[in-house]
Amino acid sequence: MTDFAATRAMFHIPEGITYLDGNSLGPMVRTAPARVARTVEAEWGEMLITGWNKAGWMDQPSRVGDRIARLIGAEPGTVVMGDTLSIKVYQALAAAVDLNPGRKVILSDTGNFPSDLYIADGLVHTLGEGYTVRTVAPDEVEAALDSDTAVLMLTEVDYRTGRKHDMRRLTTEAHRAGALTVWDLAHSAGALPVDVAGAGADFAVGCTYKYLNSGPGGPAFIYVAPRHAEAARPALSGWLGHEVPFAFHPDYRPGRGIERMRVGTPPVLQLAALEAALDVWDIADIVDVRSRSIELTEAFIQGVEAKCPTLTLASPRDPRARGSQVSFQHPEGYAIMQALIANGVIGDFRAPYILRFGFTPLYIGMEDVDRAVATLAEIMAKSLWDRPEYRARARVT
Ligand SMILES: Cc1ncc(COP(=O)(O)O)c(C=O)c1O
Repeated sequence: MTDFAATRAMFHIPEGITYLDGNSLGPMVRTAPARVARTVEAEWGEMLITGWNKAGWMDQPSRVGDRIARLIGAEPGTVVMGDTLSIKVYQALAAAVDLNPGRKVILSDTGNFPSDLYIADGLVHTLGEGYTVRTVAPDEVEAALDSDTAVLMLTEVDYRTGRKHDMRRLTTEAHRAGALTVWDLAHSAGALPVDVAGAGADFAVGCTYKYLNSGPGGPAFIYVAPRHAEAARPALSGWLGHEVPFAFHPDYRPGRGIERMRVGTPPVLQLAALEAALDVWDIADIVDVRSRSIELTEAFIQGVEAKCPTLTLASPRDPRARGSQVSFQHPEGYAIMQALIANGVIGDFRAPYILRFGFTPLYIGMEDVDRAVATLAEIMAKSLWDRPEYRARARVT
């Protein structure tokens, strides 16, 4: 059984803050500053360019990828780190479309993260030749799969509502229809058990700055199923995905397996922060994390519904049908969230009226749930949110 007091002690949470926004940006592990400082001073500072070999910077994207692989049920050697998630969505999607010639439709849902849909739009524009993106309501995805579907591209857990797709079932149905799958695990990796290999996923991608706590701008990961690894075209054919980058051949030849999904120079400092953050998984079990997260979200929903009758639950009521976040809606959602933040409870807001609360048992306990409910109840009962400064929109919500 995971000792959540021990995992919590690994994080720095500022005094007086209840942090319910790890679904957007995870907090810092206490060891991150020293780990990054070591990379800066002892490696960059002392080794200079020899650090690429001596400090193992060049192998870091696959080495760290293998640690992520264990968290998402991927086979060793099938995950690599680098770039941002939007870039990795592009690569996975382009490779999947290319592996399924003759079919022209990328199917997704209306709840998908806008960047994924924008990237798909950009890709079909570049491809031309009748390629299109089709979006349907989340619960209509299965029925929308047909003989035109080249790729089913979904985010497993909806960023706004927390609604969770059944990855295994939809992957099976997509394959039955002759389509390939691209799964975005941004709100799954580190939040709940994921089994990409067991589900038969073709491609998966995700970020590390949310539930994996790599810090702002931390790199993304990409998984390619072993059956596609030697056939997938990486789309962004950068030099570090080349078979022999340091031969400097004028022609591109894809590297072996997952290595081809690398593009350019890896973000060494961010990967150092991520390596420190991943140490928490040496003492945390994702199955325990999931069951504790369900206890926390259930208690939060019960508390808010009992004390804040004007807030409406926007997440599935069945805990098995949602991820590790809970959303409520209210026409004044933005101002309410600003009032909460001003009172030390940090969640976030997603337009047009969603208040999001992420529950990460690694550093959130029942006392945080109680405090969040009590603070929200007071804000609602006394209309404390009704102030002009809480209505003024900041650039990042
Ligand atoms: C589901 C999902 N996909 C894609 C992205 C975009 O990620 P990035 O900004 O790293 O490209 C996000 C960002 O929050 C996300 O939540």
